[in-house]
Amino acid sequence: MTRILFYLDGYPHDAWRHAVQAAIPGVDFRGNPDWGNPEDGPAYAFVWEPEPGLLARYPNIKAIFSLGAGIDHLMRDPDLPRNVPVIRMGDDALHEGMREYLTMATLMFHRQLPQLIAAQRHGKWGRVFSPAASHVRVGIMGYGTLGHVVADSLSAFGYQISGWTRRERAPEPGRTLYHGDEGLRPFLRASDILLCLLPETPETKGLLEAETLAELPKGAAIVNAGRGGLVVLEDLIAALDSGHLAGAMLDVFPVEPLPVDHPAWEHEKIIITPHVAAITRPHTAAEYVARNIARIERGERPENLLDLDTGY
Ligand code: NDP
Ligand code: OXD
Repeated sequence: MTRILFYLDGYPHDAWRHAVQAAIPGVDFRGNPDWGNPEDGPAYAFVWEPEPGLLARYPNIKAIFSLGAGIDHLMRDPDLPRNVPVIRMGDDALHEGMREYLTMATLMFHRQLPQLIAAQRHGKWGRVFSPAASHVRVGIMGYGTLGHVVADSLSAFGYQISGWTRRERAPEPGRTLYHGDEGLRPFLRASDILLCLLPETPETKGLLEAETLAELPKGAAIVNAGRGGLVVLEDLIAALDSGHLAGAMLDVFPVEPLPVDHPAWEHEKIIITPHVAAITRPHTAAEYVARNIARIERGERPENLLDLDTGY
């Protein structure tokens, strides 16, 4: 019988229990804090922000499934077992959510919706004239799985799409690809709307600061749906205040929830969403976990296996 050790604090487990039971008939589902005896038989962990040290206390865990695509919540645990495979979430809901969120954000900045809303608030007939989508350059910083899903959606509107990755990728028709340190500045200079989808690693932390933000074209907008550590918020606010950047939409923050006294809350050019760009849903996630447990049991490689060397 498959045993699942589920960890999610602050939210009810019922929907998750039902979804996992539907996807894995006969499963023994244990939600925290009732994980049972660490010496009980083999189990799979399925977790979000588990208490540090907890996973290490259960030596029979065969694989750890993250409820999110980001695994920084696990990497923060100094005792994370290094010999147990970690599988990042990649369910359909995550793809759909990110496609919707970043398509919405791109259209919003392209069609200057924040300026139109501001004009309305002041009772002004403030007509704005947006360029054709084919003249708008959208740069995807972190052009991985989700980046490709978003790019496919935006291509249908005719935007010019570019992507930045760590490693060089094979050319893709209709897309301009940049990679590595040497590709960063040319990539930024060619991004009227910058969509950020980078994982949090030592290399990405603080990467968007005064100097790199200054590389963006004047009037550019930035959307961060990857991880909050990427952007130095003080520098972003300075770039918005100086008029260099037109707007920002932020879903993720260095500290979450964003502290109530943070100036970003009140900033007229910043739109804040509380880490909701793409939400893992119980049914699609349970099916994803079931499918990947089956792969592991057959001795095959699971999807989205964490590479401990790159940290994502
Ligand atoms: P992937 O691993 O598929 O893609 C990550 C991309 O980032 C890859 O293209 C990778 O390059 C690139 N990258 C990583 N490090 C660097 C670096 N130092 N320099 C340049 N490029 C780099 O991840 P996903 O697309 O599935 O997810 C991306 C992130 O989105 C997650 O890590 C998570 O943090 C965030 N996320 C946020 C959600 C939200 O609701 N806000 C929901 C889901 C995910 P390469 O291709 O060369 O490896
Ligand atoms: C994720 C997230 O990583 O929700 O999936 O941020």
